[in-house]
Parts: sequence; structure tokens; C-alpha cells
Amino acid sequence: MTFKEAIQDPVFHMIAEAASKKEVSSYVIGGFVRDFFLERQTPKDIDVVTVGSGIDLAREFASMLDEKPKVSVFKNFGTAMVKTQDLEVEFVGARKESYHFDSRKPVVEDGTLEDDQNRRDFTINALALSLNKEDFGRLLDPFDGMKDLEKKIIRTPLDPEITYSDDPLRMMRAIRFASQLNFRIEPASLKAIKDNKKRIKIISRERIVDELHKIMLSDRPSVGLSLLYKTGLLKLILPELTALQGIEEKEGQRHKDNFWHTLEVVDNISQNTDDLWLRWAALLHDIGKAPTKRFDDNAGWTFHGHEFVGSKMVYRIFKRMRMPLNEKMKFVQKMVLLSSRPIVLAQDIVTDSAVRRLIYDAGEDIDDLMTLCEADITTKNPRRFKKYHHNFKIVRDKIAEVEARDHVRNFQPPVDGQEIMDTFNIPPSREIGIIKDAIKEAILEGEIPNEYEAARKFMLEKGKSLGLKPA
Ligand code: CTP
Repeated sequence: MTFKEAIQDPVFHMIAEAASKKEVSSYVIGGFVRDFFLERQTPKDIDVVTVGSGIDLAREFASMLDEKPKVSVFKNFGTAMVKTQDLEVEFVGARKESYHFDSRKPVVEDGTLEDDQNRRDFTINALALSLNKEDFGRLLDPFDGMKDLEKKIIRTPLDPEITYSDDPLRMMRAIRFASQLNFRIEPASLKAIKDNKKRIKIISRERIVDELHKIMLSDRPSVGLSLLYKTGLLKLILPELTALQGIEEKEGQRHKDNFWHTLEVVDNISQNTDDLWLRWAALLHDIGKAPTKRFDDNAGWTFHGHEFVGSKMVYRIFKRMRMPLNEKMKFVQKMVLLSSRPIVLAQDIVTDSAVRRLIYDAGEDIDDLMTLCEADITTKNPRRFKKYHHNFKIVRDKIAEVEARDHVRNFQPPVDGQEIMDTFNIPPSREIGIIKDAIKEAILEGEIPNEYEAARKFMLEKGKSLGLKPA
């Protein structure tokens, strides 16, 4: 679709007509225009700025639509939103903004289109298209935003020190756009972000996380993550992660830099999954390595128990960042906890019982766990790289084979506690747990098949060994 065609969408003509009725000028601005020129999928939300009342224009526009949609008015922000079909059109009056040091909520006064473009975060977000009769579709680009789009540069319309200090969320946005669009942040902006990094504290964690998620969902999240690191923001947001940075050497032994390794793992996994939480699992999979690092005279550098420590840290990080403390967090914890299991398995002889245990522990998430572990292979030694991938292929094949035969993925014991109580005529007691565990172990070890008859027979024998008699 060409630009001329896009702007011919009836919705734009209707906004133009509404504006002309109200005798105000109006413009499409922001993400819609940017993404249109970048040939990205144009967003379903359209921002319209009018030199007049955004709320009045929204009401006029809504009244002209057949479906007469509701106008959602946000009085405090002087904005109004109208949903029509699958579009959300947000109207705002052109404004000038000034900020207090301790808040990102500006003091607002009416302004011109130019004032409004000045208050925007980036030149590529300040592009405006006229919806006025006399020059419908004309591009108003006072800051050379088009050039920045071509050169792939993130730049602020005004002095970056002011733009970022006014609204420190923009530091996150700059890095997010650089990551999403694969753009460069111009040096003055980068410096201003470094200078203002501490001001991130006035931004709510929810907003920071929103931007982090967008970075995590970009094609190569390492672009954004390394910018967060270089500007010093990451240390303020996720110090657990920057604690992984660095290589120590003792008695000629070095360990790898687990921070840069993690970024590679995140990029690797992003080639194979769009699942946000699996990507987060990749980001946090080695998080327990900083607090567990030790140097052992015999073994060299060790990180004993880092998976367990790491999975506990996931909870603390999610809580602090106000991320959901639900099954998503549990999934990330589980991935971190199990993240070393497949490689340990692959380094040894791949036995059926080890595979059965892995499937039992990972359950439904076994495929995601394998995807994570394959992404974890970042060795630059081609021989080892090949060997690890080959071993994982063996593990995957074995998983499929064992799963088809033994069905342990959603393991339900073939004999349950009630049956044990009924069989031996005993009340709830310690013995029931012992027998249940023994049955599970026997199945996982491959001593008995995962079937009712075999499990019942095993239960009777186990009961007998505990001095129980069938009723
Ligand atoms: N904007 C800004 N400063 C912010 C947030 C937004 O100047 N902290 C301006 C920008 O001009 C932006 C517009 O408001 O283009 C709309 O913001 P938003 O909908 O949050 O972002 P988009 O640019 O549309 O991009 P995306 O939808 O990818 O977030």
C-alpha cells in the first residue's frame, strides 16, 4: 500500500471533515506515521492532534460514524478515544508542556502544532500528516525525521538532556525503539541517557517492564539489553543480571562472562520462539551464578546449586518489578531450575530412566526446556558446538521414544492413595506416602511399566515389606 492509498482510508477523510466542521486543523502524528514509512504493519491505534479541543473533535467524529461509538474521555490528560471497527483513534489538543523535576507529569498549556511536535520524544515520532482540506496528506517534518528514518537514527527534537530529564521513560523508549527497529541512538542522546539514568526512579515499574518486554520481544533483544547495560540503566533495573558481568582468573583458570553469554542465549532462543516468558527464562537462566560463584582448589570455578538459587531469585525479581506472580513466573522458575539438566544428561550416556525423570520433572514444558538448553550452547569451539547439538538430538529422540512408550509427561500414579488405604484398610498415614513414592520411583527407574496391574502388584509387595496386610 502506498502512502497516498493509506491516507485515503475513509477514516482519515472523516476526521478531516469533523475537524473542518469544528473549524480546527488536525494531523495524524506519532507511531502510525512512523510505522507507515518504515513499512511495518501500521498500528491499530492512530494518534490525532488538533489545534483546538481533542475532546470536542473526538465527539464530532464519533457522531458522524454510523455505529455511533462511545467516546472515552480522559479529562485529566485532555484526550479522548474513539473505537471504530478495529481502529482506536486517540484525539489530543496540540499542547506545550513543561515539567517539574520530580515528576513526569507535565504542566500543560494549549499550543501550536509545532509546540506539539517539539514536546514529542523522537524526531521519527514527531512526523505529522495533515488532515486539512488545503494540504491533505502533506508531511510536516520540522526535525528531519524522515532523514533519521532512512539513516536509522533515534534522535530527540530538542536538547536530549531536556527530553530525557523531562520524561525519563523516554530513555527506555529510545532503547526499545533501537532494539525493535534495529536503529542507532545518536551519541548526544546516548550521553544524555547516561547522564540522566538515575531519573529512572521516578518511572513506575509497570512502565519499565512494558518497555523491557518490548525489548525482549524484538528480533535481537541483545541490541536493547546491551544498550541498557552500556547506559547504566540495567544496573538500576536488574542488578542481578549485571552482577554476572566479568571474568575472573585464579590459578590460571577463568570462567566465562555469564552476562554476555546470557545475551547470546537470549538472541539464540529468539530465533526459535516468540514466547515472551521463554525468552525471560533465557535471560534469567544463569542469574544464580553470581551469588554461588566459588573457587575450588580441585574443581576450579564452580556455581553449585545456581539453578536452585536462581529459581528463588526469579520470584524476588518478579515481585520487585511488579511482574505477574502467577503461572508465568512459575514457568520461568521451573525453566531456571531445570536449565542444566538436559546438558548434564547429554554429556553422559542417555539412559531411559534419566530421560523419564527429566520428562517427569519438566512435564508439559519439556519441549520449551529443550529449546532453552539448545540456545544455551554458545561455545565458539566448532567441534564442541557440533557435539552438544548432536547429543541434544539424541536426548530429543529419546524423549520422543520414552514418552510414546511410558507416558510420564503428565504422570498420574496408576494406583492412588485411596486405593492403598482401601487395600490395606489403613487410615491416612506415613505409609501411604512411602508406598506412593516407591511406585513412582519404580516406574521412573523402569523397574515396572507405567501400568495399573504392575503398579498394584508392586504396591502389595511394598505394603508387605512394611508389615501391612491386605484387608
Ligand atoms: N510520546 C512521547 N513521549 C512518551 C510517549 C509517547 O513523546 N513518553 C509521543 C510520541 O510522539 C509517540 C506518541 O506519543 O509517537 C504515541 O505514543 P505511544 O502510543 O506510546 O507510542 P508509539 O510511538 O505509537 O509506539 P508504540 O505503539 O510502538 O509504543
